[in-house]
Amino acid sequence: MHLTQEEQDILAGSQGEVMQKVLRTIVAFGDVFGAERLIPIEGPIHFVNTTAMAGLDAVYAHLDEIIGAGIKTLQPFTVDPYPMDFVNIETTEEQKKEFLRIYEPQDRYIEQLLKIGLKSMDDFSCACYLPQIGNIPKKGQIIAWAESSAVVYANSVLGARTNRNSALIELFCGIMGKVPEFGLLLDKNRKATWKIEVRTSEKPSATVLGSAVGRKVMEDVPYITGLEKYLGTTQDGDTQDYLKDLGAAAASNGAVGLFHVEGVTPEALDLGEELLAEGYQTYVIDDQVLADTVASYPVLWKDKKETPVLCLIGCPHLSLTQVQNWYHKIVDRLEKEGKERLAVQTIFLTPPAVIKEFKKDEAAFERLTKAGVNLSNTCPIMYMTNPLCAARPVVTCSNKARTYSTARFYEDDDLLEVIVTGDPERRNA
Ligand code: F3S
Repeated sequence: MHLTQEEQDILAGSQGEVMQKVLRTIVAFGDVFGAERLIPIEGPIHFVNTTAMAGLDAVYAHLDEIIGAGIKTLQPFTVDPYPMDFVNIETTEEQKKEFLRIYEPQDRYIEQLLKIGLKSMDDFSCACYLPQIGNIPKKGQIIAWAESSAVVYANSVLGARTNRNSALIELFCGIMGKVPEFGLLLDKNRKATWKIEVRTSEKPSATVLGSAVGRKVMEDVPYITGLEKYLGTTQDGDTQDYLKDLGAAAASNGAVGLFHVEGVTPEALDLGEELLAEGYQTYVIDDQVLADTVASYPVLWKDKKETPVLCLIGCPHLSLTQVQNWYHKIVDRLEKEGKERLAVQTIFLTPPAVIKEFKKDEAAFERLTKAGVNLSNTCPIMYMTNPLCAARPVVTCSNKARTYSTARFYEDDDLLEVIVTGDPERRNA
């Protein structure tokens, strides 16, 4: 890698031993991927690793070294969701004990993050780009993120540029203000090697479409056509929410870090089919492909007929509009059924700032609580890391949560039926 004189000086120790180690790590990371130089970070910092797990002592020791040297990130950062919530999710004493065992160094770790640059205790969310949090990179800006759902959103929906870095690498880049130039930071790698033609009879579920795309293209870049008529050419909040869920599913069911949607996403608006790389492959997604995709998801419960005990909605975290939409859907459906309360305890996962905003509508918040829905800023996967929670019948409409846990997947309307009735076989008629 070609380094500037200043970078060489840092590697020689001009800014102390800790900065020397930080830069050495970034350079070694870049070398692995064939980067030729470091380039400045231009946009905001987001850190993926919010969980402190017992056994990762080397990580906490590194962070102590950084703090001891008085080093912080160049700008304050946001971080993924907090891993536990004993207030808004009913937790037994045994479950709580297990959480505290798994996440034993959590308090120490959060203290470390606050010292290194974490903005505040309100800045825990994987959807840091939502307006209520405001950690939003601009089109063309170079950033260094690692959270897969945020990486694919930043690249695809906002037109920023980031690779899917490793945890800690993005923190080190945030300290140095530089990132190795390779992968999706370069124009040539932002071209699509797949053309995905969506030919469905109606607007496809974002999370199922993302799953089908991810499974097909894996880590490649897809150029998706056929969605313009459903999404329109101006990105409004609903479109951004749709693309958020599509991207998270593509990133978790495959390893997609960037997708283009013809006539919708920024680079596709600028360049259209010029984004298609020479020799690209084509894949058609129709109603049958989506139905087959859903049918292929395994149910990992011991007893498939068991009544679900918990429903987790919001992976990635829900936007305010999504919280409001789910609120209306649930209340309307309960009214139709003549019921006050859902049969299944339900949690909306969403950032602290969105919770505050939703609570301003006191009547809606009261009605939602009466319906048996709580708002939480935790993460379903971190919740399901606890084996005592993973052993229970949990339902979700998130493809990412389905992929990384034992939660059973339903599409939105089917999930609504399941949580209203408690019947896991119930489907939207
Ligand atoms: Fe976010 Fe946790 Fe899902 S970090 S994307 S809620 S796995």
